Amino acid sequence: MRSTRVYEASSNSSHGRFDIGAMVAERDSERYGLHAQHMNEMMVRVLRTIGFDVGFQAGQGQYLFDRAGNQYLDLLSGWGVFGIGRNHPLLRDTLSQVLASDLPNLVQMDVSILSGLLAERLLGFVPFLDKVFFTNSGTEAVEAAIKFARRATRRPGIIYCDHAFHGLTYGALSANGDEIFREGFGPLLPGFSRIPFNDLAALEKALSARNVAAFIVEPIQGKGVNLPDDFYLRGAQALCRKYGTLFVADEIQTGIGRTGRFLAIEHWGVEPDIVLLAKSLSGGHVPIGAVLTRKAIFEKMFNRMDQAVVHGSTFGKNNLAMAAGLATLEVIESERLVQRAAQTGARLLSAFGAMAERYELVRKVRGKGLMIGIEFGPPRSLKLKAAWSLLETVSTGLFCQLITIPLFKDHKILVQVAGHANPTIKLLPALIITESDCEWIESAFDAVIADSHRVPGAVWSLGKTLAKHALKARSAT
Ligand SMILES: Cc1ncc(COP(=O)(O)O)c(C=O)c1O
Repeated sequence: MRSTRVYEASSNSSHGRFDIGAMVAERDSERYGLHAQHMNEMMVRVLRTIGFDVGFQAGQGQYLFDRAGNQYLDLLSGWGVFGIGRNHPLLRDTLSQVLASDLPNLVQMDVSILSGLLAERLLGFVPFLDKVFFTNSGTEAVEAAIKFARRATRRPGIIYCDHAFHGLTYGALSANGDEIFREGFGPLLPGFSRIPFNDLAALEKALSARNVAAFIVEPIQGKGVNLPDDFYLRGAQALCRKYGTLFVADEIQTGIGRTGRFLAIEHWGVEPDIVLLAKSLSGGHVPIGAVLTRKAIFEKMFNRMDQAVVHGSTFGKNNLAMAAGLATLEVIESERLVQRAAQTGARLLSAFGAMAERYELVRKVRGKGLMIGIEFGPPRSLKLKAAWSLLETVSTGLFCQLITIPLFKDHKILVQVAGHANPTIKLLPALIITESDCEWIESAFDAVIADSHRVPGAVWSLGKTLAKHALKARSAT
């Protein structure tokens, strides 16, 4: 047998001294400068304006640590990718094992054991579907779903909802329900039509010409944390079946336990033809997306040997991504994170519900599990009303930054809004948060929201500064 040894044990033996840790330590103070110079300067400006440029140094579970050693509770979880928390030991160990092995990665003219195992395990959670197609991201899963649907139905149409977010590549962008993401990028793909969310009559009208390949919908919309009415998803499924349209659930944000069920659709008892996953399936370390579908749909795409690679991508199914997916599902099960998300989510929803009764600026609280939206709205009392109107006239949704900035600065909580021009703050923490994290969240929000009801006060002085920045930015464009 041939020896497998090609490299010397030390990776540095023939490369001089390459030490990524030392490089990071030496140059970390330049991080914002490097970004401003070589990358997206606007992002750096945003961070500096709102005071989020604290230079995070470390992440552990649900916490982040800045350069001064302060501990933060992270309610963004990297836009929802750290369901199991940051740097989970099982995930790290699994990835290290794969790196330490000589497993052949991406042979291409072979199929890998890890992808087969992950497909088998994923389908165990979604027993009404039969096949999996892996991608490298959420938006690629959406692109694949569009292709599966068109190919399987031989129809051109795709229906999507107002405020939908499915990603930012061209197919996904063509199904985006917010103008801010679309403006200036046209023409988008033909065949896409938008309908209001929660409107079955509009859906039926759109489907009735029988030229629609797929209706794609987030069970709970990420932009705004909009929940479906009780019968919406079941009604949508029935209409799709009636008119021969595929029903696609985009669970990229809501899936893998986020809402207190493995899939959010389980709350409403529907079984879509295609389910999309990504984000937290990665464990936060290696990008991955997955399209789960029925055999009959899958086999319309891969229907002959000369079509075996008709859709795919070079890095799809790579070993590290597959191992990350397997380790993530192991943690989700062994730590009972779906059940934990349901319990902690119920506690937080009830605490925020009580705040909505106490504070006139809190208009509505909604969510499921650990996907929670707190919507703010115009107050009734005169003094507050005037301050609110002034700020919201300058920029819709700006009020929320009066909550997120003090939460960050004074209470070490990282959280952001649920979309542009939307006065809703979204909580999307790791599913592992504890009772004492909940106390941290509840007392911090309570204190900041209480402050925002005092006019004049520190919160509204911050409002004036932000309004000035917004006006300056507007006049510069
Ligand atoms: C519901 C939904 N679909 C698709 C995407 C796109 O995923 P990605 O950013 O991995 O391309 C997102 C990302 O936020 C999402 O929330």
